[in-house]
Parts: sequence; structure tokens; C-alpha cells
Amino acid sequence: MIDEDFSLKLIKWYNVNKRDLPWRKTNDPYKIWISEIVLQQTRVDQGLPYYLNFIKEFPKVQNLANASENKVLKLWQGLGYYSRARNLHFSSKLISNELKGKFPDNYDDLLKLKGIGEYTASAIASFAFNEKKAVLDGNVFRLLSRYFGILIPIDTSKGKKLFNSLAYNNLPKSNYGIYNQSIMEFGALQCKPSSPDCSICPLNIKCWAFSNSKIKELPFKKKKIKVRLRYFNFVIIQDNKSVIMEKRIKKDIWRNLYQFPLFETHDKNFEPPKSLVKNYSLVKKTEAIHMLTHQKLSIVFWHFKGKKNLSENNNMIVKLKNILSYPVPKIVENYIVQNLTNVR
Ligand code: ADE
Repeated sequence: MIDEDFSLKLIKWYNVNKRDLPWRKTNDPYKIWISEIVLQQTRVDQGLPYYLNFIKEFPKVQNLANASENKVLKLWQGLGYYSRARNLHFSSKLISNELKGKFPDNYDDLLKLKGIGEYTASAIASFAFNEKKAVLDGNVFRLLSRYFGILIPIDTSKGKKLFNSLAYNNLPKSNYGIYNQSIMEFGALQCKPSSPDCSICPLNIKCWAFSNSKIKELPFKKKKIKVRLRYFNFVIIQDNKSVIMEKRIKKDIWRNLYQFPLFETHDKNFEPPKSLVKNYSLVKKTEAIHMLTHQKLSIVFWHFKGKKNLSENNNMIVKLKNILSYPVPKIVENYIVQNLTNVR
């Protein structure tokens, strides 16, 4: 299926309706890379301040490569999916050291970097180098499935192949970068997931889903995301000046972030360790729910205070006045700000 004016109409729409975004005003592949990683699974309005901060702190790939992991994670704090930040840091070191600071300038070499998949390599290669590659993100899937009436689920290998060829075959004859920006922007602003205003859509005449009243049903997905319920008990043990923390070393989403000592349980039942209850008093118990894409965390903060100074044996003691400099999960930061500091 090839539609000759599909791309032309999209570019025309984009020139009138595009948002003024900083990564669209540069050809620097490093900055485009940062923007694309920030924007994965993140809305533009949420990601924009993170992008600006990141570029301010690390204007060049060498600056990122030379930074400490704590600093990188701290700048990422609140954005979630922390492996994105760890991979950015890892790949910046590789570019800076092994590639002598020369950023890969084509799709195949970009794809070799940790954290860069087909989507991101296509985005960087087309935006920075105008390489002939089609981007496929959630916005593009939605638009293609509705416009061309694709009823095959996008999360199947057959579906992926079909969408890949559809996207590639409908590329314009030039201006691949601008076209890719256009199709993503169109998906984000016009062909929205729910209640798009099809009456003003420049593609509506030939749109299959519009003609067949199937906007709501498309795109098709096979799997429903399964959400795992987990029970986290954070134990906060503080004296007047300090609190005990630990670094997460387990290979998961929060790897290398800091937290209060954590006891994960199979259900809500949890008793804080007896030795703790003897020396410290429970001053507060706070419950919270934290939703992640694949997990629902049922969290209880058990807050203990004591006069006795905390001892170093086996414990990592953090001064309360320094606590906000540590990268922590957002839910932990919220607790800290509300309960352990007077400053923001
Ligand atoms: N989402 C992912 N990449 C984007 C980009 N370059 N512009 C706007 N939104 C995006």
C-alpha cells in the first residue's frame, strides 16, 4: 500500500502545526540522542525540562562520559525507567573513549550502541543525517493502522513486518528527517489515542478507520499488560542528624538508586525487626501506592526514631542535610521531602 500524497500532506500539516521544541533546531546527533531517550515512554511536556537540564549539565558527549553515575541518575530522578540513564552513560563513555569522541553518523553504527534500538537509530540517523529510515513509535503505529486499516496486531511479528514495510514504502523522495518529525507530531497532536477531532484532519478523506467508524478500535493489540503486585516495606531509622540508607544493587528498574532499607514481603503482613523496636520508637507508619508500567507497588514506610546515635557497622549512614543529593526513586524522594527535610 503506497499513498503518494500521504507524506506530502503530513509535511504540509507539520509546517503549520508543529510545536517549537529545542531538539528540532539542531543537527547535533548527541543532543538528538538525549532527546529521543528522554522522550521514550515520556510525554513531551514532562520530558522537556529533563532534556534542558541534561544538555545544560552535559553539553557534549565528553561531559556526560566524565560525570559520575550518581550525578547522571540524580538528573534523571523522577523520569523512571532508569536503565535509560545508565545506558546513556555507558554509551557516552564508549563514544568518548573507544570512538575518540566521534559520534556514530549512520544507522548501522548507531544500532551497535547500548540502549539504541531500531526506533532510536532511525530517529537519530534521519534527524541528524537525513538518512532514509522510517521511524515507528506508538504514534506512527496508531496513524498507520487507522489510515491504512491494518487489523493485524502491532505486537506480533507479522504485524511488525507489515508496519515496517508500510512505513518505509510511504517515505517521501527526500527530507526523511522532516517527514519523520511530521508523522510523529501528527500522531501526537492530531491522530490522538482517544477522541481525535477527525473533522479537521487533512487525511480524513482517505482514512480507512474514519470511513468505517473504527477509530476507537485501532490500533489492535494482542496482549494486555500484566501488572505484578509487590509489597515493599521501607524502614526508616533516624537519629537527630542522620538516617540509614542502602544502594540497590539488584538488576532491576531502580538499580544503583538509593533507598531506605527494604523488606519485600509476599503480602501485607510485616513486622519490623525486634532489635529495632527495642532501641527505637515507631513514630509514623505511612502507606502509599506507586504504579509502574508492569508493577503495582504497595508500600509502607515504617519510620523509627531514636536518641542513640546510629552506628556505622554494616550500615550506610547519610546525613540528613545531604540526603537530597542522592538519586532515589520518586516515591522515596516524596517521603524524604515531606518527612526528613525542611528544605526543597
Ligand atoms: N517523541 C519522540 N521523539 C520525539 C520528537 N523528536 N519530537 C516530539 N516528540 C517525540
